[in-house]
Order: sequence, then structure tokens, then C-alpha cells
Amino acid sequence: MYNLLKGKKGIIFGALDSKSIAWKVAERAHEEGAKFVLTNAPVAMRLGTITELAEKTGSEIIPADATSMLDLENLVDKAVEILGGKIDFVLHSIGMSVNVRRGNLYTHQDYNFTKTGWDVSALSFHRVMSVLYQRKAMNEWGSIVALTYMAAQRVFPDYNDMADNKAYLESIARSFGYFFGRDHKVRVNTISQSPTPTTAGSGVKGFDGFISYADKMSPLGNATALECADYTISMFSDLTKKVTLQNLFHDGGFSNMGVSNAIMDQVMEKEQPVEAVEKSKKKTSK
Ligand SMILES: NC(=O)c1ccc[n+]([C@@H]2O[C@H](COP(=O)([O-])OP(=O)(O)OC[C@H]3O[C@@H](n4cnc5c(N)ncnc54)[C@H](O)[C@@H]3O)[C@@H](O)[C@H]2O)c1
Repeated sequence: MYNLLKGKKGIIFGALDSKSIAWKVAERAHEEGAKFVLTNAPVAMRLGTITELAEKTGSEIIPADATSMLDLENLVDKAVEILGGKIDFVLHSIGMSVNVRRGNLYTHQDYNFTKTGWDVSALSFHRVMSVLYQRKAMNEWGSIVALTYMAAQRVFPDYNDMADNKAYLESIARSFGYFFGRDHKVRVNTISQSPTPTTAGSGVKGFDGFISYADKMSPLGNATALECADYTISMFSDLTKKVTLQNLFHDGGFSNMGVSNAIMDQVMEKEQPVEAVEKSKKKTSK
């Protein structure tokens, strides 16, 4: 490895199990020489296997519900204490929609669920940055990254209210990124990742079709969780110091595609029998 994060200190949100993108980021950050604390919602401590990751990477876990200011303030204070100084990098890798979980269609949302999903998936990013900013807990030239998905820009019907949450999240990155850059020389970006088979990802209806379609559309194929971790590490490193306020697509080229030959072939294959039937109809009518 390259010692890209040697001497750097961080906070990593959202490692639930070994499939989580945050899990891979933690493993890669460890390999690159960083020290960090791991955090997740208290309920996730029971459901997931985060202690295994903590042991593997020599990290401490500080539970925090990302919708609670008290929890986040406690997290940041303890992280600075445990790590012995200010923070250089933060990963926000949190997403959850109650409407998706309950199978409510986008057109038939329960707005209390919508509010909870928005609070967890989008507003939490503002809360995290607000605590870091107000406590002056970030080192100069630090880097904050949140993970997002392209449904913020394009329509993916089954992504549901998460599409709106991601659009809000990306806007927060730009708006808070201005203040963090101006006042503390800290960069803030979102990474827009390919569909990835994780607990959150697999919750989306028709996820297998979704992932296969994206793979066939992308000239480089879908980006894996580990590849996302590699990209995130580069955004935490000193090699990307002047990249800020960006939504960075990490998707094998998907976001700039119209259609690929692989998808066209598949569509034409399905169309074929219809065409053949039409032709034979014409022949018999003649
Ligand atoms: N998997 C995909 O296809 C994909 C694609 C693009 C972007 N993303 C984004 O990547 C991020 C990570 O998701 P993942 O795919 O690794 O799935 P994951 O299920 O492993 O991670 C989601 C995490 O959010 C945490 N979380 C939920 N509620 C919380 C709360 N109140 N406080 C603190 N943490 C809370 C969960 O415990 C979990 O660790 C999410 O923002 C997701 O939207 C995922």
C-alpha cells in the first residue's frame, strides 16, 4: 500500500457488516496508515458485526444515532480525545428509507416515514458537519465525504424517496462545503456510487435487475464496494486537496451513457419474436 493516510485521524460512519461500503473504507484506511473511530446507530451494534472490524483495525467504536445532536457532540468530543487531536477525514455512509422498507410506493408515501428517512439519510450530514464546524474539530486540509446515488439527478422509480434524500444530501455538501472551505480549509464532496450489493442497496425493489442493468450500461462495468473505498481514500489523501463542492461519479461511466450495445442487444432480442410475428402476419395477409 501507499501510506496515503499515514498520521491521519478520522471518523467512519455506517459500517454494518462486511458488505458495507464503510467497512471497506475502514479496511483500506487502516491499510493506508490512518487511525479512526467507527460509529453507527446503537441498534446497528446489535444487528451488525462492527466489533469484528474494530478489532481488525485497532479502532474504538462510539455509538451515535446520526439524527441526535447529543450523540454527535459526544462522538466528536470522544473521537478527538481518543485519537489525540483534530480530525482529518470523515465518511458519512448512512442511508435508510422507511417507505422503501415498508413497500410504500413513491406516489403513496407515509410522510412521517418520509421525514424519518430524510432526517437519517440527508439532514444527518448537515448535523455531523455542524458539530465538526462549531467545535473546530477538523484539521486544515481535512476532507469530508458522503456517499450518494445518481437517482438524485435521474429517475429510478423504485429508489423512491431516497432519490429526494440524495438530492438534498448533495446540496448540503455544496452549501456547507462553502463555509468549511472558506473558514477551515476543509473540503466536502459526495461520491455517487454504482449500485452495490449491501444491506441498504438490496432493500431497493428489483435490486438484481437494477444492478445488472447498470453493469450492462457502464463501459467499465459497475464499481464494487472495494473500488469505492479506494476512490474514497484518494479523496481523504493529500492528493486531492483542491477538490471540493463536487458530486463525483464513481460508476464505471454509467452517468454519461445514453444506451450501450449490450442493452440494445437485449432489447432487440426481446423485440425479435414480435417482429417475426408481425412479418408472418403480413405474409399471410398477402
Ligand atoms: N449499496 C448501493 O447500491 C449504494 C449505491 C450508492 C450509494 N450508496 C450509499 O452508500 C451509503 C452506505 O450504504 P451501504 O450500501 O454500504 O449499506 P449499509 O446498509 O451497509 O450501510 C448503511 C448504514 O447506515 C446506518 N444507519 C442507518 N440509520 C442510522 C442512524 N440513524 N444513525 C447512524 N447510522 C445509521 C446503518 O446502520 C448502516 O450501517 C448510503 O448512504 C447509501 O445510500 C449505496
